[in-house]
Parts: sequence; C-alpha cells; structure tokens
Amino acid sequence: MDTAKSATRQWACHLPRGPGMASLRGMTAPLIDPFARPISYLRVSVTDRCDFRCVYCMAEQMTFLPKKELLTLEELDRMCSTFIAMGVEKLRITGGEPLVRKDILTFFRAMSRHLNSGKLKELTLTTNGSQLRKYAAALADCGVRRINVSLDTLDDRKFAAITRWGRLAQVLDGIAAAQEAGMRVKINAVALKGFNEDELFTLQHWCAQNGMDLTWIEVMPMGDLGNEDRLDQYWALSDLRARLAERYTLTELAERTGGPARYVRLEETGQKIGFITPLTHNFCESCNRVRLTCTGELYMCLGQEDMADLRAPLRASPDNALLQDAIRAAIARKPKGHDFDYSRQSVSGQVTRHMSHTGG
Ligand code: GTP
Ligand code: 5AD
Ligand code: SF4
Repeated sequence: MDTAKSATRQWACHLPRGPGMASLRGMTAPLIDPFARPISYLRVSVTDRCDFRCVYCMAEQMTFLPKKELLTLEELDRMCSTFIAMGVEKLRITGGEPLVRKDILTFFRAMSRHLNSGKLKELTLTTNGSQLRKYAAALADCGVRRINVSLDTLDDRKFAAITRWGRLAQVLDGIAAAQEAGMRVKINAVALKGFNEDELFTLQHWCAQNGMDLTWIEVMPMGDLGNEDRLDQYWALSDLRARLAERYTLTELAERTGGPARYVRLEETGQKIGFITPLTHNFCESCNRVRLTCTGELYMCLGQEDMADLRAPLRASPDNALLQDAIRAAIARKPKGHDFDYSRQSVSGQVTRHMSHTGG
C-alpha cells in the first residue's frame, strides 16, 4: 500500500506540471487515489432511462435528462478510451438500462477494439435482462463474456410489483438467450424484507440448476425516500447468511472479481453465493472503481454526493490533455468510503440521486 502511495508521489515529483505534460503523465502514471487504492475499474452509465421502474431504484414518474445533455456515443468512446489509456482494465456498462440506449451496439463494437489490443481485460454489462433476446449474440461477438442480470424474484406477480413495468417471462427468455450466446450470467438480487425472504432457497436452486452464480445485495438508501421506508425494506445479509447456514455448510472463498462481492461455497452443492454488504460490512477499503454518468459526471464514490464534471474539459479541446488533468484531479478527491448507516433505527448517510443516475 505504502509503495503505491510513494509511487504516485514519485510521479508527481518527476513530471513537470502544466497542461502540456498531461498526456505524458496520463500515458504512464497509474491512477492511484489518496488512500493508495489503484483505480482500474470504470463503471459507465450510458443512459438514465429504463423500461422498468424498480421501487428501490426509481420513482414511478421519473423526469429523465433531455437528450442534448447526454454524451454522444463518440464522446463516451473518447471518455472510456482516455480512462483505458490511464490504466483502467475493466469496463462495466450500466444505466438505467444500458440496452435501451439507441445504437448501443455501436459503442460496444468500439470498445471491443480495446479488448483486441489487450489494454482492456474485461468488458461487461449490468442489465435488467429485458432486451437480451435482441442483443445477446451481438454482445458476445463484441467480447462480452459475462453479464450481471438483476432479478429479485421468480414469481410473476411479485416481479411485476417490484419492477412496476417489467414482465418476468421476457427477462427469463433474455437470460436464456445470453446463455445460448455463450455468456456467463450472474444474478443480482436485492434482499428485501417481507418480499423475497421466502425465495432464498428457490432462487438459489434455480441459479444452481441453470449454472449461474447468485449475489445478494443489501438495499441502499438512495433516491427520494419521501414516502418510502428503506429501514422497513432492509434485510441484513448477516441474517440471510445465517439462514443459508442452517441448511448448508458455507466455506468462505478468497476469490475476488474486483467487485465488492464476497463469496461462499455451499459444500453440499458446490454453488457459489455472493454477498454485497455495504451496510453490515463495509468493503470500501479495497474499492478500485469510479463511475461515469451519461452526462459526463464522474462520481468517485457511489455513496457520496461529490462529483467532477468531465464533459466540460472533454468538449473544451479535441486534445485529451485537459480531460486527463480533470480525471487526475478527481481521483485525488476520492473519499475513503460511503456513510450509509441504518443503525439506531434510522437511515443516515443517504444520497438523494437515484441509483439509475450512477448505475449501481
Ligand atoms: P463483478 O464483481 O464484476 O461481478 O461486478 P460488481 O459486483 O461490481 O457489479 P454489479 O454491477 O453486479 O454490482 C452489483 C451491485 O453492487 C451494484 O449495482 C451496486 O448496487 C453494488 N455495488 C457495486 N459496487 C459498489 C460500490 O463500490 N459501493 C457500493 N456501496 N455498492 C456497490
Ligand atoms: N440498493 C441496492 N441495490 C440497488 N439497485 C438499484 N437500486 C438499489 C438500491 N437502492 C441494484 C439493482 C441492480 C443494480 C444495478 O443495482 O437491483 O442489481
Ligand atoms: Fe431499471 Fe435497474 Fe433501476 Fe430496475 S434497478 S429501474 S431495472 S435501472
């Protein structure tokens, strides 16, 4: 850790300051934040729109950004390519629902050139699954090897209730299409008290039967919580895990995908189950990611309000020097972690933007 910190300092000492030197610095110096964490993972929300309205993610009546505010696909390409030139090795495309963005395949095709060059190690996608039947084969052709699909229930009626606008059959068909195209699928389920507690084993069996990993996520206090009570919805994964342990022998795995999930293996089935626990166990100390929104804002932490505008430096000059300077300045402000907290029977540390804005 200390080595990483001193490496940044050395770079800062040896390279002259000023915009002229930015591209040279960008080409070589790794992105390292003030807590000595190397930043190698960029999550990009390509649209704030979605064809669902999940209750913990969006309001039913959402006002979406005017199209002119969005980065064009060419601008998104320039942003991502600049991060890749600065050492980002993993790109995850999110939204809203990324597959509802017009011409999204053009962008995936453009990013696949970085896989071919070897600079990018992984190009992935987090999706609600609704458009996968249409896009799965083409995504696989672009080098997408594994995708994460959000699915909280296998019950038609409950699925319609939690997503407000979604249809379960369409998502299950999309998942099948992804598997037919040869992609590995991980299911992400948000753990919701009184909603999918009774599906703990059903979801787990279904994933095992279909060769998919399953990750549970603790519900985070994001968005306008006006008439909702997140504390009421919150189901601590420590409890979920204890219930699993009543039926299975759980073995902790050291394995990491570069994401926040921590995994266990169920010895009786060999299946892998992940837990994303921003509330019960904070994983921020090993955070390696930043998030870019579809308007070019860079959020250095999912759980904090601070962000940097990268659209202005991108548009100010066709050269990437200003953009690289802005990226370095932003990484230098990356906070230690989020402040989400449900203890003492109240929600604190919440952020007002919706999850669809920053893409989870
Ligand atoms: P892989 O490990 O590559 O599978 O990816 P991942 O787990 O990072 O990606 P995924 O999109 O599946 O993330 C699942 C969810 O975990 C996100 O939608 C967020 O809800 C949550 N999450 C991901 N990264 C963070 C993070 O840095 N902080 C917090 N608090 N939550 C996160
Ligand atoms: N808390 C936890 N996870 C959330 N997601 C959306 N909103 C929340 C929230 N408030 C999840 C979705 C999806 C991913 C993009 O983020 O279910 O898996
Ligand atoms: Fe859409 Fe995903 Fe948000 Fe649900 S959680 S509304 S599918 S972006």
